Amino acid sequence: MILLDAGPSDWVLFFGHFHPVLVHLPIGMLLIAVIMYFFASKKSVPYVFFWAFISAVFSCLMGWALSQSGEYDENTLFFHQWLGVAVAVLSGALAYMTAYWSQDAAMARLIKPFLFVSVALITLTGHFGGNLTHGSDYLTAYLPQPIRGWVGMEPRAEQGGANEPAIRKIANIEAALIYQDLVQPVLKQKCWSCHNAEKQKGKLRMDSPAFLMTGGEDGAIIKAGFPEESEIIKRLLLPDSDEHHMPPKGKPGFSEEEISILHWWLKEGADFKKKVKDASADAKIKTILKRYSSGESSGPYLSPVFKMSISEADESDVKDLQKLGLLVNPSAKDQPFLEVNAVNAYGLGDKELEALVNIQDQIVSLKLGKTKISDASMKQLATMPLLIFLALDHTKVSDKGLTSLEGLRYLESLNLYGTQVSDAGLASLAKIKSLKHLYVWQSKVTDAGLATFKKARPGVQVDNGFKGKWPLEIDTIRVEEKMK
Ligand code: HEC
Repeated sequence: MILLDAGPSDWVLFFGHFHPVLVHLPIGMLLIAVIMYFFASKKSVPYVFFWAFISAVFSCLMGWALSQSGEYDENTLFFHQWLGVAVAVLSGALAYMTAYWSQDAAMARLIKPFLFVSVALITLTGHFGGNLTHGSDYLTAYLPQPIRGWVGMEPRAEQGGANEPAIRKIANIEAALIYQDLVQPVLKQKCWSCHNAEKQKGKLRMDSPAFLMTGGEDGAIIKAGFPEESEIIKRLLLPDSDEHHMPPKGKPGFSEEEISILHWWLKEGADFKKKVKDASADAKIKTILKRYSSGESSGPYLSPVFKMSISEADESDVKDLQKLGLLVNPSAKDQPFLEVNAVNAYGLGDKELEALVNIQDQIVSLKLGKTKISDASMKQLATMPLLIFLALDHTKVSDKGLTSLEGLRYLESLNLYGTQVSDAGLASLAKIKSLKHLYVWQSKVTDAGLATFKKARPGVQVDNGFKGKWPLEIDTIRVEEKMK
């Protein structure tokens, strides 16, 4: 019994690890044999096929050994395995055919179709094999943005997708795999960008179970059963200011819930196959699981910006702005995010706004309603990386200026009340993926334009009428309360 539970022996896995290297032999030889058949002397073709056959058989054996680690996706493995066996069998068959059928014109005619089939099979086998090690989105991982949209792919995690919760609603939480459904999506969104096939910061890859268990330059990062001793958790729990904190400064980190789930998975043995129902969950974990199954995983919504660690603004810069009549206040307790309000500075124009450049990395909320700024300022606003709330009501801003705002990755609330903005401006705004609230009362936006916008962005709440209190203000208050 004990032996059975111990998993494959080290020898099996030792040989298994040669599979990814060895497979190149049958691939190369098979392709060379096919090329030789068409373009060179047919004489030595059978020998090449024979050696392709031998190396394919060994590849299959080692592939089988590797699969005993149980780290691979079962469906993909099934196809890869049997296609691999088919390649081996076909190479042997082709060695025989090219040796003994070539003389006979009738039989020789059968060879060509088999050659094509063998090339197709080896391509497919390789494709599934690649998916096993790199994940099925490996080939298209760097497909550039507009094309992703056309073919219906999600944006890359780093390009705006980071705003979305990593874990979407999980209908049957009991049957969910802890690693695959709860842990991996978060690692993928927040860690893979620096720890993947192309980029291995700290010599660490995290994009497959095998790599995760291997660890980085300082050895293993996971100690199964001992979360507190696992480097992966230690790094997340370090103070934000520590240079070893992960992810590094400025990147959205793990939420408390996400850390708890990772901790739970490690404590439960870092088992890639374990299901939620097979693990013991305490009250805290149960609450989190309940949230996932009801689809409200991120709790009361909070912009990912507030999970970033950023540097503080210079006090003298803040004082200079206050001299202009601007109100500059912290937006969150104990964090250096700033809110800027021009409610006492209606005379503020494009020129004066340039003074904000020194604190633009800290601004999350900017209220410029009724000021004299125009489209000329929009380029500057576009360079404020963490802007979440922006009020431009009763200003000269127009459709032309709004095109500059398309790149704001965290903008959630935009007030365009009483501006010249029309339907064309809405088209630019539809491109801001993070947008949640839009206020366009008394602008030039038409009902038809609004309908088009709502179709493109059904999730955005559009306010086209004044309802007493600015919802914008309510949003800000809610965030402040959350931060206290
Ligand atoms: C912006 C790039 C970046 C992102 C994103 C990132 N890392 Fe790192 N990581 C690094 C760099 C650079 C190092 C090497 C320097 C060091 O050890 O601090 C590193 C090293 C590590 C190490 C130590 C590896 C070793 O053996 O020395 C761990 C563990 C780690 N990262 C975990 C994570 C986790 C977990 C996440 C996701 C929350 C993450 N990283 C996201 C850049 C990144």
